[in-house]
Amino acid sequence: MPRQLFVTTALPYANGKFHIGHIMEYIQADIWVRVQRMLGHQVHFVCADDAHGAPIMIAAEKAGLTPQQFVANIAAGRKEYLDGFHIGFDNWHSTDGVENHELAQDIYRGLRDNGLIEVRSIEQFFDPDKGMFLPDRFIKGECPKCGAKDQYGDSCENCGAVYSPTELKSPYSALSGATPVLRSSDHYFFKLSDPRCVEFLQNWTHETGKLQPEVLNKIKEWFTKDENGQGGLGDWDISRDAPYFGIEIPDAPGKYFYVWLDAPIGYLASLKNWFDKGGPKAKYGETRSYAEFIADPKVEQYHFIGKDITYFHTLFWPATLHFSGRKTPDNVFVHGFITVNGGEKMSKSRGTGIDPLKYLGLGMNPEWLRYYIAAKLNARVEDVDFNPDDFVLRVNSDLVGKYINIASRAAGFIAKRFEGRLSGDLGVEGRALLDTLRAHRDTVIGLYEAREFGKALREIMALADRVNEYVDAHKPWEIAKQPGQDAVLQDVCSVCIEAFRLLTIYLKPVLPALATQVEAFLQVEPLDFHSAARALGAHRIGAYQHLMQRVDPKLLEALFEPPAAPEPEKVIPGGEELAPEIKIDDFTQVDLRIARIVKAEAVEGSTKLLRLTLDVGEGPDPQGRPVYRNVFSGIASAYQPADLEGKLTVMVANLAPRKMKFGISEGMVLAASHADEKAQPGVFVLEPFPGAQPGMRVR
Ligand code: MSP
Ligand code: ZN
Repeated sequence: MPRQLFVTTALPYANGKFHIGHIMEYIQADIWVRVQRMLGHQVHFVCADDAHGAPIMIAAEKAGLTPQQFVANIAAGRKEYLDGFHIGFDNWHSTDGVENHELAQDIYRGLRDNGLIEVRSIEQFFDPDKGMFLPDRFIKGECPKCGAKDQYGDSCENCGAVYSPTELKSPYSALSGATPVLRSSDHYFFKLSDPRCVEFLQNWTHETGKLQPEVLNKIKEWFTKDENGQGGLGDWDISRDAPYFGIEIPDAPGKYFYVWLDAPIGYLASLKNWFDKGGPKAKYGETRSYAEFIADPKVEQYHFIGKDITYFHTLFWPATLHFSGRKTPDNVFVHGFITVNGGEKMSKSRGTGIDPLKYLGLGMNPEWLRYYIAAKLNARVEDVDFNPDDFVLRVNSDLVGKYINIASRAAGFIAKRFEGRLSGDLGVEGRALLDTLRAHRDTVIGLYEAREFGKALREIMALADRVNEYVDAHKPWEIAKQPGQDAVLQDVCSVCIEAFRLLTIYLKPVLPALATQVEAFLQVEPLDFHSAARALGAHRIGAYQHLMQRVDPKLLEALFEPPAAPEPEKVIPGGEELAPEIKIDDFTQVDLRIARIVKAEAVEGSTKLLRLTLDVGEGPDPQGRPVYRNVFSGIASAYQPADLEGKLTVMVANLAPRKMKFGISEGMVLAASHADEKAQPGVFVLEPFPGAQPGMRVR
């Protein structure tokens, strides 16, 4: 009986493109799924975009799009990556699909009917400008421990302190800059602290052999209360207040499910979508509905995830399923993170990460990456480092040097000397070699099944070594020169081709596209694990065409070359270009003086101008009368006349007098403004530091 498997990878947030970490996860899961398929099992391998949550809502708003449009754009870009790296998902869906809305609400009702939902009022920061509650990540302020400025609401990047947003000093909203206010609101909690949940999770997580040992250890920590009685399994806040991009909570107007409640339900939604589209029927003649399938105890359910989301998948998710009356996952397979060049953090701007599309764009073979990643993966929660030298070495000396070489060394003779015909009988030594290769089939399958991909590939390469030893011992290129040795040559080369076929079967989960090329070259039906048993016999193969290039190390240099820095956008200060350069003499021609505003008056008939009476230290005249200047200034919109009187400012004192509608202006007062007063309103009169006296020159 074929196994029936429901397999997923984590649903990527729909707020960005795929990075190498996503691709690594998909490659891992895809290899495992292909192994199952090659064993004749039925697999439904699905994924979806994780569409909901505040960050996506905010990113969409910034982009001037509705959240739906925003995530649709992201979704449209997925295929290029998935096809490019031969990731064979059966279905790709979205957590914003109708299936997910229905399933999430249904599951919630199940939890509620089980008495596991509780409403509690909690106090949270609210952004009065934006009219919304702020997620922790969108509150900033001074660290309560070390005083570092501009720290996030959950932890300090300077001193590492962890705190709640309400502890921040001088908090502000990262969205609007406004000072957030504390406001209370009803939140819906999943009562994970309920003894039923605790007992269920203790049992589920400890079922023998289920979770990886490291994962189990983490879970034990999460279960344990510290000496202060803190920690342990707390209730889970599953609601968010409007505005929120998410799924409405039934019977709770204005309340939405927190994204992490509906995200894993998206696994089921994508599967349901796949069933409703008739995929399983077309593929396996499946007659059951989604609901019947998912309830069948024989169906196995597996989730591939990264270590950072273990908590959600090994505690919240099984509890959500179980207490809404559903089957729980058979296992959650947790992988570590991919790092690049010895653990450097991936950063797009510094160019140390690997951009998957750039990789493909450079014409690099996707199966090099699949092979390399597979060679580094094991069943533990270990990080995987991408090292360019190691990459070149493994691909060139193992994949091409050991495996591809076997075909290229034998195929030419079969084609030229024997019209593509293989020998039916291979001789004792050849048969012994091939038997050895066949005898390792179950070991290889077992290692793949256990996600020990690195070990599986080492096993396969050790077999390739044996085949190469056989080739070196028999030297077909020498036999070919000896007259009367045709039958021997044909046997030796046929052994090589059959060995190559067996190795191709073993590598096919990792190298599916290459295997397809090999099938065409060998003129055989698609290879699976059962095809290992039957030798090709006196079969005719096609012409050999080169199957895989070696990696040119220059490609890796190109891959890691940081993207050309974008032309720095020219900043135009104050909205206008700087005036052409002048010499100091040009400047000194302008006579700037400190002036006291003796009087400021509105100008009848003008909304813009104020009439200023200025003392520039020019008086008194011989008769002892003060000498003042009369200046019209376009600052009426910015100042009340009374606020100006008595203040010092700066004026251009040698400007030719100008006759205006309201009188003669004898100079100009200096004021600052943006070129585009609509974009940045305001006029600001200059005022000298205290101590300056009317008449002093400004130089
Ligand atoms: N949306 C959530 C998952 C919801 S599942 C119901 C999420 N998305 S994510 O886009 O941030 O991550 C998706 C997957 O990529 C996760 O399994 C995560 O662990 C994995 N990775 C993210 N960075 C990674 C690496 N650098 N290396 C390997 N996997 C990494 O979390
Ligand atoms: Zn700090």
